[in-house]
Amino acid sequence: MLTKAPKGTKDILSSEVYKWQFIEKKIAELCRNFGYKEIRLPVFEHTELFQRGVGDTTDIVQKEMYTFLDKGERSITLRPEGTAGVVRSYIENGMASLPQPIKLYYNITAYRYENVQKGRYREFHQFGVEAFGAKSSTIDAEIISMLDMFFNNLGINQIELNINSIGCPICRGEYNERLTEYLKPSLDNLCGTCKSRYERNPLRILDCKEDNCKRITKGAPALIDNLCDECSEHFEGLKEALDNLGIKYNIDKNIVRGLDYYTKTVFEFVSQNIGAQGTVCGGGRYDGLIEACGGPSTPGIGFAIGIERLLLVMESQGIDIPEPHSMDIFIASIGKKAGFRAQKLVYDLRKEGLSAESDLMERSVKAQMKYADKIGAKYTIVLGDDEIESNKVFLKNMQTGEQKEISLDTLIDRMKM
Ligand code: HAM
Repeated sequence: MLTKAPKGTKDILSSEVYKWQFIEKKIAELCRNFGYKEIRLPVFEHTELFQRGVGDTTDIVQKEMYTFLDKGERSITLRPEGTAGVVRSYIENGMASLPQPIKLYYNITAYRYENVQKGRYREFHQFGVEAFGAKSSTIDAEIISMLDMFFNNLGINQIELNINSIGCPICRGEYNERLTEYLKPSLDNLCGTCKSRYERNPLRILDCKEDNCKRITKGAPALIDNLCDECSEHFEGLKEALDNLGIKYNIDKNIVRGLDYYTKTVFEFVSQNIGAQGTVCGGGRYDGLIEACGGPSTPGIGFAIGIERLLLVMESQGIDIPEPHSMDIFIASIGKKAGFRAQKLVYDLRKEGLSAESDLMERSVKAQMKYADKIGAKYTIVLGDDEIESNKVFLKNMQTGEQKEISLDTLIDRMKM
């Protein structure tokens, strides 16, 4: 136990971190271009926020949350997703009084007690965006175009966009009646959780992962065929806007999403290449959520991408993330005097903003050079008493093997070029 990470968690080792930094850089660039600003929020919130926000008939709230009482007897939950926290922050910090829309993004860890498998973990990473205050389908299309551009920028082309509309409380009222009518004969065969959902939130039954429930709901009426005029117009507007931007999509009547806050537009980007957990990104509109959490009536929309799944897709497509050179120069040394000089040179190079290393392990020159190669040093020099006396060293380019004799005094200036 002591030397094993908890099930469903993973170390991101220093040998892998450059991939995450690469993705984070791409995210920051994308968000800057689309006018989204970063927000950083607590890892835990009051449990009630997720019960109210995500919905207490969802799998997430019913089965998957990491909830505990803190020492002050408050019920606290590790965030299972990012949206509820951002909504809480929007309300708490009075963002409704700022010019709308408010466009925010986040890179977070999230926590769900799920059955662990490829692409499904208990601690995972999400890049998400949330936009508040805009109700027209123009922003739905903008957000989807942002994702389309993101995947394109990363070279991902084997991914499909599926969209749907799950309407608003008005169309859902009538639809729920039709759905419960359809499910009534099979009520006894639904799982225990779905039986309780039947009265409280029948739409949730369509998202159940149990095989039997899936079989029962297979031919159920779809919400998209029962939309009110406003929701129908919104969906038509989205399709028109996506066509205008040249973005390809499929309409998938079965998308209901695993969280209760959605209204109107819902969408997913799915990859067929990474196994059962192929949904890399999910999102949609949530026009009632801010009000439900105690804020002013405000429309909202957003998405989240799972970074672990994103990396799996990139790997499955053979997309290589370039490993950056980690070290500009390694200064090898022979003897105590040269060792001191090397340490001082490294110190001065670092002051000038260069990355530099010298021997810290009392290795032989041969072993020092081997190490320099391993850490990916671009250049090396070897310092001994002779070099210090003559003030001349060979600067070796480790990629080409080329060596140039230079004056030791000019090393820093040369490295800065
Ligand atoms: P979600 O569909 O629950 O939506 O999660 C979004 C993405 O997070 C998934 O598509 C998947 O890539 C990743 N993900 C979810 N659970 C796991 C897991 N156990 N292991 C690995 N990756 C996982 C949301 O979280 C919403 N907050 C998205 C949103 C933002 N909607 C509006 N705004």
